[in-house]
Amino acid sequence: MAWKGVILAGGLGTRLFPVTRAVSKQLLPVYDKPMIFYPLTTLMLAGISDILVISTPQDQSQFRRLLGDGSQWGLRLSFVAQPDPGGIAQALLIAGDFIARQNVALVLGDNFFFGHGLPDLLARATARADGATIFAYQVRDPSRYGVVTIDGDGRPTAIVEKPAAPQSGWAVTGLYFYDREVLAHAAQLRPSPRGELEITDLNLRYLGAGCLHVERMGRGFAWLDTGTFDSLIDASTFVQTLEHRQGTKIGCPEEIAYRKGLISRSTLLELARQMGGSGYGAYLADLANGKE
Ligand code: G1P
Repeated sequence: MAWKGVILAGGLGTRLFPVTRAVSKQLLPVYDKPMIFYPLTTLMLAGISDILVISTPQDQSQFRRLLGDGSQWGLRLSFVAQPDPGGIAQALLIAGDFIARQNVALVLGDNFFFGHGLPDLLARATARADGATIFAYQVRDPSRYGVVTIDGDGRPTAIVEKPAAPQSGWAVTGLYFYDREVLAHAAQLRPSPRGELEITDLNLRYLGAGCLHVERMGRGFAWLDTGTFDSLIDASTFVQTLEHRQGTKIGCPEEIAYRKGLISRSTLLELARQMGGSGYGAYLADLANGKE
């Protein structure tokens, strides 16, 4: 089953003004790479290589400049604009022609996932041809998120968007896998009181149809926020700490493409060369030269 991927990198990033007045939030650095590399590599780890990037019209050229058509990483990337922020579910309608009648994974461009078991967890989602899969992560402050209640058999029983009195500590992360009915469901949605097509309402339709699955991301995972000044630094420090300690990189598209056999060694060496004198380039060169 071939999955398509959509990265939603729209929005004005107002919580990061003035930093995001002239540059998209999802292009800001999280330590040593642009934020969008992290959700992009999450999709790559799910085995998805045909990916649409949705941004504001004014930011589109920068995303193209950064990512190209994806062929350098063995991917197929395309780009489309979301003129006004109309909700996460609206992104799926904007991506309608791209998705057509295929399964699709949607990831928010500011969501950061890390964990040893991540590829296995993602594989469980892509193995399901029917229904939808969401991921739940335990947080201290669930009322900032969509919150899912899970029964004793691991099945979701309710989802509430930003509840004042959360019924569980499980936040719904910004990574969603949908079957080929997704556009039909999305077309039925109506704007919420905040004027947006809510992803939670879409997930509730799958829940109502009895085909919403929830995968818990347990303690061994990191799901980090990157949407505020402090969380941006926290995420950068997290990446820096692990990368320094282990000498490996998190969220490196070149490395994943190479390890998955999407690009050759000579392509990796060429990509390393293009990085100028940066430590990122040196890392790619070491990788090509077989240094573990
Ligand atoms: C959105 C979703 C919410 C989800 C969150 C994850 O929130 O509406 O359900 O938990 O993303 O990042 P928003 O970013 O619109 O506040």
